[in-house]
Amino acid sequence: MPFNAIEVAKDFPILSRTIRDGKRLVYLDSGATSQKPEVVIEAESNFYRLHNAAVHRGAHQLAEEATDAYEGARAIAANFINADVDEVIFTKGATESLNLVAYAMGNAVAGNRFHLTTGDNIVVTEMEHHANLIPWQQLAARTGATLTWLSVTPEGRLDLSNLNQVISEKTKVVALTHQSNVLGTINPLDEINKRAHDVGAVVVLDACQSAPHMPIDVKTLGVDFLTFSGHKAVGPTGVGIFWGRAELLAELPPFLTGGSMIENVTMTTATWAQAPKKFEAGVPNMAQAVGLGAALSYLTKIGMKNIHDHENKLTSILLNKLAEIKNLKVVGPTTTQMRGAAVSFTLGEIHPHDLGQYLDNQGIAVRTGHHCAWPLTRKLGVPATTRASLYLYNTEADIDDLIKGIVGAEKYFG
Ligand code: ALA
Repeated sequence: MPFNAIEVAKDFPILSRTIRDGKRLVYLDSGATSQKPEVVIEAESNFYRLHNAAVHRGAHQLAEEATDAYEGARAIAANFINADVDEVIFTKGATESLNLVAYAMGNAVAGNRFHLTTGDNIVVTEMEHHANLIPWQQLAARTGATLTWLSVTPEGRLDLSNLNQVISEKTKVVALTHQSNVLGTINPLDEINKRAHDVGAVVVLDACQSAPHMPIDVKTLGVDFLTFSGHKAVGPTGVGIFWGRAELLAELPPFLTGGSMIENVTMTTATWAQAPKKFEAGVPNMAQAVGLGAALSYLTKIGMKNIHDHENKLTSILLNKLAEIKNLKVVGPTTTQMRGAAVSFTLGEIHPHDLGQYLDNQGIAVRTGHHCAWPLTRKLGVPATTRASLYLYNTEADIDDLIKGIVGAEKYFG
């Protein structure tokens, strides 16, 4: 069946509710969190209703069913990014994944390839979400490594003119976003991966804003670690995917320790299970992982290319319409070339929080603020922006309503 966003939206119960005195909900905040289709809500609640037990433990039928459902979700997630199943780790979300890899590196002792010390270097970019900046700041502070970064141009692209200086022979890790949550910019990974690998560094990719929106194949992407959150990919909150190359996961020390992640334990020592278990201490977020499995199956069934093409078409329409509003300035690329469907803008002197509140009164949900990327908004010289972020269930009618809302706000505040 051809892709039809109006039909897709019917799968999401929340999208048929009204808000603010009976107004149609125009949900343009999927960059913050996506809405959930009925199949995901059912999968999560059915786990509790029918199969709930601690996975990988009990010797009873429920434990067997729960384990099958949990491991089944892992297989779906592996298929979603074309990974080997043992390379896929369930975390609480992308923030936890990025802390996991940064803390695990901090646990590496001399001789381990992830050991960092004074004189080593960590590279990030100026467009990182705080979740992919602060864990690296902290790792640098704990190990004595330096933190350097690739800057952002006024057009909202990474400045790669000094790539070979920023990523140097001292660099051990390059951590960057695939797609900026503020600018929508999609970063050119090939050049960055090549330079990082030439100097022996690993590349950690924050795919929160890309994996839910475009096909991802970790076998061709060229990065070494990748993460995304379930809740931005029509899945539940409290679950995310952390992927790493098998040989790197074998060498990476654990982050959290405890039950399930061990091979052998004595009173004074312990050895680790292999990945993924090594990184999944404790009874995991089983129902959420199962819900995420249902979400990724749902997206796969619709087709990630269909979703990407739909968003690309809508983004083009949105950018063209925004360009017609005189006082509006898009913060980020103004064409769909290497950009996704998160579109931030400013509107004359109207504060984004006022604009957000005005739009909310019209039934339109957008995000305003620095979008957890404060250094970026500072660099671009804007205190805050208004962001509309699109997804598979958005339609041209949503864009028309947003444009009407913006024009109305100009009159109201003008
Ligand atoms: N990272 C999420 C956003 O960009 C919360 O809105």
